[in-house]
Amino acid sequence: MPESVTVTDNRTGQSIEIPIVEGGVAASEFSKLLPGIWFYDPAFGATAECESAITFVDGDEGILRYRGYPIEQLAEHSTYLEVAYLLLNGELPNETELAGFTEEITRHTFIHENMRKRFLDGFHYDAHPMGILISAVAALSTFYPEAKDISDEAARHLQIVRLIAKMPTLAAAAHRFSLGMPFNYPDNSLSFPENFLSMMRKVAEPRYEADPRLARAIDVLFILHADHEQNCSTTTMRVVGSSHADPYSATAAACAALYGPLHGGANEAVLKMLTEIGSIDNVEAFVKSVKEGHGLLYGFGHRVYKNYDPRAKIVQQLAYDVFESTGKSPLLDIALKLEEVALSDEYFISRRLYPNVDFYTGIIYQAMGFPVAMFPVLFAIPRTSGWLAQWAESLEHKARIARPRQLYTGAAERPYVPLAARA
Ligand code: CMC
Repeated sequence: MPESVTVTDNRTGQSIEIPIVEGGVAASEFSKLLPGIWFYDPAFGATAECESAITFVDGDEGILRYRGYPIEQLAEHSTYLEVAYLLLNGELPNETELAGFTEEITRHTFIHENMRKRFLDGFHYDAHPMGILISAVAALSTFYPEAKDISDEAARHLQIVRLIAKMPTLAAAAHRFSLGMPFNYPDNSLSFPENFLSMMRKVAEPRYEADPRLARAIDVLFILHADHEQNCSTTTMRVVGSSHADPYSATAAACAALYGPLHGGANEAVLKMLTEIGSIDNVEAFVKSVKEGHGLLYGFGHRVYKNYDPRAKIVQQLAYDVFESTGKSPLLDIALKLEEVALSDEYFISRRLYPNVDFYTGIIYQAMGFPVAMFPVLFAIPRTSGWLAQWAESLEHKARIARPRQLYTGAAERPYVPLAARA
């Protein structure tokens, strides 16, 4: 059987055979037969925007791999920085490469003093940390004007390193600001997750010693969130990057896309939902109300996964490790009950709605003492490496500026009506 499709224009009888390559058919071939006829695909549900060799997701089977490596193995054996290197370079680093990359990242953790004193201090005392982060990342571009030179490979690499290194610093700064606590400088003698916890939590002690179980949990969560192929924020990154904007501006845009409750804000929504449910006795009634169309079961459903999100399984297990250190969250029992009820309910079964990564992350973050407003920020820190890997790949592929078409449904041409003559 040929690996191709044949399209016929019934108006003219003309046909064209288009090969299926890597699971896709080229729209440019359709356009040869159907100039001026556009694919109507709102939300890009059936559109492959790019070719990518970074992350593989099989939503039916519940498979996630970075550069071919199963997420389960990376979560068990790897570290976030090793995974960031893998995403960016395509291969796991050897010892020398990892040491070099770690050293580079560590050297760039500090932010310019004006960023802290003049820029961050300008926010209102109750500013949402994600709003601060989005603005701060965009503002970084003004500190590094050479970032505009996206064709210079060395400059590109430097911005990638800076962004990965400075995200935890900016995130922690936003958190401390919202608490009215002083900014903590990075401690470059610590590992990436330990340093993040130190910047978040250090008070008067000379050196913050993170609980190793919590530092490892943060690292695993960072691994799980590092990339997820062409999701909303990554698509934003590629689209903004396609205009050759500098990577800080593109990352700020990606952060903004991540902020929404249907994407990176979902774990915040899950926690609010679990708190509102309040008790396992109320779970059945809550599920019933969702089925009746009163809101969503946050942390359930995914555009791609029509099976258990493999990250959710890892996070559920991780929750127990974290609770050994922090004590168990009362919300866990509600979440487990909710999962049990939903997974045996026809509404969720028929729509293939399973827990996604955000179903359990909020509970862990809360148990670790992070305020709800920090949840999307905690997602943005590791996703930065994925965004940048995708951005660099799109530049390597010389992606054209993104410019979709539309099906115009508005008024036909009509003459301007002077104000006085309008009804
Ligand atoms: N609760 C109840 N019903 C749902 C849910 C949900 N969480 N998700 C989807 N449905 C229903 C939806 O109403 C629709 O029903 P019907 O066919 O009767 O109209 C059907 O399932 C198909 O859903 P959809 O809205 O077409 O699915 P989508 O692919 O457009 O949306 C989603 C995917 C993740 C936005 C959606 O499932 C959702 O809103 N989930 C809750 C928010 C959430 O947990 N987001 C985190 C996503 S994972 C992290 C990330 O990648 O950012």
